Amino acid sequence: MILAIETSCDDTCAAVVEPDGRRALSNVVHTQTEHARYGGVVPEVASRAHLERMDGVIAKALADAGIGLDSVTGVAVTVRPGLIGALLVGVSAAKGLAYARRLPLIPVDHLEGHVAAAYLAEPDLVPPFVALIASGGHTALYSVDADGMRLLGETLDDAAGEALDKGARMLGLGFPGGPEISKAAEHGDPTRHEFPVGLKNRDTLDFSFSGLKTSLLYKLKALDERQAREELPHLAAAYERAVVEALSRKLLRAAESREARTVVVAGGVAANGLLRRTLKVECVRRGLRLVVPPPELCTDNAAMIGAAAPLSDAVPFPGYLSLNARSV
Ligand code: KG4
Ligand code: ZN
Repeated sequence: MILAIETSCDDTCAAVVEPDGRRALSNVVHTQTEHARYGGVVPEVASRAHLERMDGVIAKALADAGIGLDSVTGVAVTVRPGLIGALLVGVSAAKGLAYARRLPLIPVDHLEGHVAAAYLAEPDLVPPFVALIASGGHTALYSVDADGMRLLGETLDDAAGEALDKGARMLGLGFPGGPEISKAAEHGDPTRHEFPVGLKNRDTLDFSFSGLKTSLLYKLKALDERQAREELPHLAAAYERAVVEALSRKLLRAAESREARTVVVAGGVAANGLLRRTLKVECVRRGLRLVVPPPELCTDNAAMIGAAAPLSDAVPFPGYLSLNARSV
């Protein structure tokens, strides 16, 4: 069994995954609540909270899977990209466990982890496919084949999740912004306000979300307090729709240009209901297979890191003691 650890941002995660990376026996996520009052993740606070929770989260992952450490044959851990202090807590824990048991350590790239969540969702999935990763820190399109992932396009400014988080903050909603905007948008009319969709008609697979954010700022400036309250559901609905349109448009364009038959969507924003519904309709129309992991595998978790482990190079005992984490 693979014991997987993920601490790249504000979730302290551990999971037990079968060696082929296609089935999780447990998946424990402790989402840090310390950041809510700041409206965003505070790196130093995240590192310290990981340190406090790490041992308990690992113990729970083993207990939930019904195994002991003696059944673990390798320790997988996110080594990049992410908050450096946060990553180091997970990497140190993984090194300690692996070294004590003379096990190999498997360094995993967080973004490859997000894509690998699709293998847990649909174990028969095999490359090639086109993948969209949309999270709080990243928004990128990849062409995935047997040799690995190749970048096709990425955001030139904010990530999609970041745009939702910042938009939510401007609208006076909570953090994380994605689910909050969806909730506020429930009874809103998405056609009442118009927001720009960045790089919409340009012949590029890159994204841009900064214009959207600025547009919301100016719209809010033009409204008094009462109007802003009344318009909240409509603004949220239109804002959410603009983000979803940008993501689905570029993903479908990438699938077309790569002549892909399968598309995968991953990362925290893939938990978004409107994005899931929109892509479902569009993919049926185009005869594409759509793989979107369930929401709990889309947001940060360690099962996806275990799922990526068979695709990453294991470092044998004890060569990994000098291994470092990287923020990018
Ligand atoms: O992948 P993730 O959990 O962490 C990062 O690696 O960033 O993604 C977090 C992002 C946040 O920006 C959050 O607002 C967004 O994913 N998110 C959502 C939803 N759930 C989380 N965005 C839209 N709809 C959701 N249901
Ligand atoms: Zn992530």
